[in-house]
Amino acid sequence: MRQVQLSDVGYVYDDGYNKTTALEGVELTIEQGECLAIVGHTGSGKSTLVQHLNALLQPSSGIVEAFDFTITADAKKNRKLGLSNLRQKVGLVFQYPEYQLFAETVLEDIMYGPLNFGASQQEAENIAHEMMKLVGLPNDIAQRYPLALSGGQMRRVAVAGILAMNPDILVLDEPTVGLDPKGQIEMMEFFLSLQQKLQKTLVIVTHNMDVVANYTNRMVVMKEKQKVFDGKPSEFFENREQVESCYMELPHTVKLAQALRTKGISIPKEIITFEEFVNYIKELEGNQ
Ligand SMILES: Nc1ncnc2c1ncn2[C@@H]1O[C@H](COP(=O)(O)OP(=O)(O)OP(=O)(O)O)[C@@H](O)[C@H]1O
Ligand SMILES: [Mg+2]
Repeated sequence: MRQVQLSDVGYVYDDGYNKTTALEGVELTIEQGECLAIVGHTGSGKSTLVQHLNALLQPSSGIVEAFDFTITADAKKNRKLGLSNLRQKVGLVFQYPEYQLFAETVLEDIMYGPLNFGASQQEAENIAHEMMKLVGLPNDIAQRYPLALSGGQMRRVAVAGILAMNPDILVLDEPTVGLDPKGQIEMMEFFLSLQQKLQKTLVIVTHNMDVVANYTNRMVVMKEKQKVFDGKPSEFFENREQVESCYMELPHTVKLAQALRTKGISIPKEIITFEEFVNYIKELEGNQ
């Protein structure tokens, strides 16, 4: 089922003095249950793009269709749409969680969404405790001031606050920044379990190509305001010129496979996850 469709979307930041074009002619569809990575060099338009998925930003040109909403550049029409419903369906965890957290305590912050969507105080509190547990936050920080937490903890609070609204699509802008390596893996495994067990759609903005290779099966590449690739990560990574022209790195597994190829060991190009890679090497060993 198609959940979101962007047609020829353009966006211009305009503060009254300066205009900055951030998106041009972007076409994108998102189907239920996908796990999609959005990548691209800094300033290429990723954060601007994902803020269109829940209408936090509304297109300067083109059309965003998300669930039952059709959002265009006509601000007057958009105001009549009741977009808070869309914000419940498409949960966006910001690139900088400190911009998302606003309450006096962690618990209140996470309770905000459920309270807004009709839960009682007690229900919201129960949901908040449940979400804290789910994202790996200890209960004793429930009464702490969110902005006094570590970067990794703040990110977890922001994720918990969004999950508390039970969105259909979870959009995560750089979700593993600020986490230690173990925390990064835990967080990604956790997101993946949401996709696999609850059929949530995942949209992950990341600079980390290992995250792309290991956890996602579709990759959208942004370059200078435009979408320049949309397909299987392995197909993108096998085209070295394309990777370089987008100022991107390769995942560690792909780098290793390339190094092994120069030594005469052939590794198929489709192999990009760590697990696939290890299994393939074991098979090679077994055959020797
Ligand atoms: N609030 C804003 N006002 C004006 N220009 C902005 C604003 N936010 C972003 N831009 C500009 O829009 C363009 C796209 O920015 P965006 O933040 O979407 O990029 P990004 O791909 O998310 O980058 P990063 O990887 O650094 O997070 C850039 O040229 C940026 O300078
Ligand atoms: Mg960004």
